[in-house]
Amino acid sequence: MNFNLSEEQLMIQQAARDFAQTELLPGVIERDNAQKFPHEQVKKMGELGLLGMMVDPKYGGAGMDSVSYVLAMEEIAKVDASAAVVMSVNNSLVCAGLEKYCNEEQKMKYLKPLASGEVIGAFALSEPEAGSDATSQQTTAVDKGDHYILNGTKNWITNGGTATYYIVIAQTDPEKKHKGINAFIVEKGWPGFEIGPKEDKLGIRGSDTHSLLFTDVKVPKENRIGEDGFGFNFAMAVLNGGRIGIASQALGIASGAYELALKYAKTRKAFKTEIINHQAIAFKLADMATSITAARMLCFKAAVEKDEGKDISEIGAMAKLYSSQVAMDTTIEAVQIHGGYGYVKEYHVERMMRDAKITQIYEGTSEIQRIVISRSIAKNS
Ligand code: CAA
Repeated sequence: MNFNLSEEQLMIQQAARDFAQTELLPGVIERDNAQKFPHEQVKKMGELGLLGMMVDPKYGGAGMDSVSYVLAMEEIAKVDASAAVVMSVNNSLVCAGLEKYCNEEQKMKYLKPLASGEVIGAFALSEPEAGSDATSQQTTAVDKGDHYILNGTKNWITNGGTATYYIVIAQTDPEKKHKGINAFIVEKGWPGFEIGPKEDKLGIRGSDTHSLLFTDVKVPKENRIGEDGFGFNFAMAVLNGGRIGIASQALGIASGAYELALKYAKTRKAFKTEIINHQAIAFKLADMATSITAARMLCFKAAVEKDEGKDISEIGAMAKLYSSQVAMDTTIEAVQIHGGYGYVKEYHVERMMRDAKITQIYEGTSEIQRIVISRSIAKNS
């Protein structure tokens, strides 16, 4: 087992770190306050190859491995978790699904501009009445021969307002339950497709979350992904990979908060010494460093196994479950170490604490990760 990163991986890590420090850090507090999407920064992320990292260059991607993706995600999320979720959704839920399951025509038309960052994408599975219980899709896609008619509402869609292309999951034949579900590529601006108001969120406020409303939207049959009835399996497969992205986002939030807490503890004095010299603080930092290292190892293992073509449902869910818990615990303690300063915006850690919470909710709550892991353990034991 080799834990050394390759030269290329180290270069990607450094490039993402530099980008985060120079382009994302200035303005991150203002964007959080104003709920402002980082348009310019996301455009530059596309130019750097961060929006289609693992996609084959012939489809506009950067052709990198999944460990590089984990490294870059961590660096971006350390500074700006909102920019990180835009990156995660575009890479893992949109580009990865299109590359693996779309035909050549669909890839040239949709994947190429998405992977190059010319446009961004969104993944629309959740509904007002179907979050964790994803088989209970109420959005319908009625087969009309050469097209489908799409009706329904999707909720909490990341990149909902800024995306150009949307992967939309809908029920075509309720009798067949999850085997009657399909996935479609839907374009912004098609008649009947409306974008609902932006959500006013606790965290990741720089990202753009909306509901989507479909009223008799005509979707050409060539925009269906895969065979009829493949939509639910498609969504599950895509989410398995997506969990590596969110696990890495959570890892980044945790390591960003840890680095700030460490720096603060080495300079802030109380009771005649730097507070890191008090065990009450030093032990918190020791716990943070240990759990962050463990989370990083889980993310790397999931990434390596993904690239080896293994079933990553269990390890991906483990990485997400654990990293998101570490993000929550670490950011709470980072606020505590900062004392009163931790509770004000200028010191960043209060934002990180708010940002951390969503990693335990989206792309499957922690409870869903435990379902995935426990089912896998039961099946494979
Ligand atoms: N990997 C691959 N396939 C899976 C799977 C997995 N992890 N889990 C289930 N499946 C497959 C099963 O094999 C089965 O397929 P077959 O019939 O072909 O064998 C099919 O899916 C149905 O399986 P179940 O009967 O087990 O389904 P279920 O109703 O019990 O639910 C679930 C399974 C794991 C709970 C699933 O509903 C789930 O993952 N829910 C969470 C959904 C989710 O993550 N939503 C997040 C929205 S996206 C988002 O948040 C993006 C964003 O904006 C950041």
